[in-house]
Amino acid sequence: MNQKAGPWRITFDTNPDDCNLRCIMCEEHSIYSSCQVKRKEAGAPRRRMDIELIRKVLEESKGSQLREIIPSTMGEPLMFRHFDEIIQLCHDYGVKLNLTTNGTFPKLGAVEWAKRIVPIGSDVKISWNGATKSTSELIMVGSNFEKRLQNVKDFIRVRDEVAESGGNFCRVTFQLTFMEIGLDELPEVIRLAASLGVNRVKGHHLWVFTPEMEAQNLRKNRDSIQRWNAIAAKALKVAEEERLPDGSKVLLENIYLLDELAVEELLPKGVCPFLGQEAWVSTEGRFNPCCAPNEERLKLGDFGNLNDMSLEKIWSDEAYQDLRKNYLKHSVCKRCNMRKKEDALANA
Ligand SMILES: C[S@@+](CC[C@H](N)C(=O)[O-])C[C@H]1O[C@@H](n2cnc3c(N)ncnc32)[C@H](O)[C@@H]1O
Ligand code: SF4
Ligand code: SF4
Repeated sequence: MNQKAGPWRITFDTNPDDCNLRCIMCEEHSIYSSCQVKRKEAGAPRRRMDIELIRKVLEESKGSQLREIIPSTMGEPLMFRHFDEIIQLCHDYGVKLNLTTNGTFPKLGAVEWAKRIVPIGSDVKISWNGATKSTSELIMVGSNFEKRLQNVKDFIRVRDEVAESGGNFCRVTFQLTFMEIGLDELPEVIRLAASLGVNRVKGHHLWVFTPEMEAQNLRKNRDSIQRWNAIAAKALKVAEEERLPDGSKVLLENIYLLDELAVEELLPKGVCPFLGQEAWVSTEGRFNPCCAPNEERLKLGDFGNLNDMSLEKIWSDEAYQDLRKNYLKHSVCKRCNMRKKEDALANA
């Protein structure tokens, strides 16, 4: 039987307006961002996805290559009130959960969350910006370094217990935003990851949303690219030297030397890792082709709403197929910092 058309992974923007931190670089929740202020002034309620939409999409995706879902790329997913139902849907439909969380593990604490997430988790990315308390708390405003560190240890303890008893292995990743603040600490973050049993250190270069963050951009000029390159070289060396408790290496993702001309384009020959592979669904059900900032990805076109169209139909439709073929002509895609070397297309 032919496989149904569709992505192997879907991200659902479950609760973008909920967060318990105010990280400086965050589009929605930063201390510098006016998004939430404007939402409140407009009297708009917090956006929260109807859990039935997720159920509908999973039901329709039976027989497709779908194997993973991600709850929310904006806001803190563990604050979504239907999170337990998402976990249940993963069990029911045999798909894995891929999570990015800020490491505060709200309400239940790290141990209880780990017990629920690890059995169906493929990869849990814990946002980690800085190897020291001062840098980490300067970037992730409202967080407590010691508490988050303890949370990582607790989460990994449960992860290892589940794996040792023959259960699912859930990879743990530190996820960074590459910017001037904290750049010097990147090699130390890798060392910390190795000592804790964190399998991977991954990051993205900063998307700038506010004037206050412009100076943080590591791609702003040749000097800043050179600073990044010097640290990236050290980071690669540390990853060779340091080992996890089980003897394996910390995997690095998106940590490589940049072309000094990467001010305009990060990787002039880079390809999109998402088109034809993954899908994003907004709180209202809008299909999005990638996780570029909303204002940017809206420029890529209107592909339909999953409340009234099936994912299979959107995926096969002309609008989406045309973007797949011609994205490199699009200005948003040309300056996109997520394009990758073709031979480096790995699972995110
Ligand atoms: C928006 S958060 C949502 C999930 C969760 N609240 C968290 O922080 O892990 C997803 C990831 O995007 C990163 N991020 C936030 N603002 C960014 C920016 N301006 N550029 C690049 N990455 C950013 C965060 O550090 C986090 O790792
Ligand atoms: S924890 Fe995530 S959603 Fe919250 S402010 Fe930080 S980056 Fe934004
Ligand atoms: S902006 Fe374009 S190149 Fe970048 S992730 Fe989106 S579709 Fe891909």
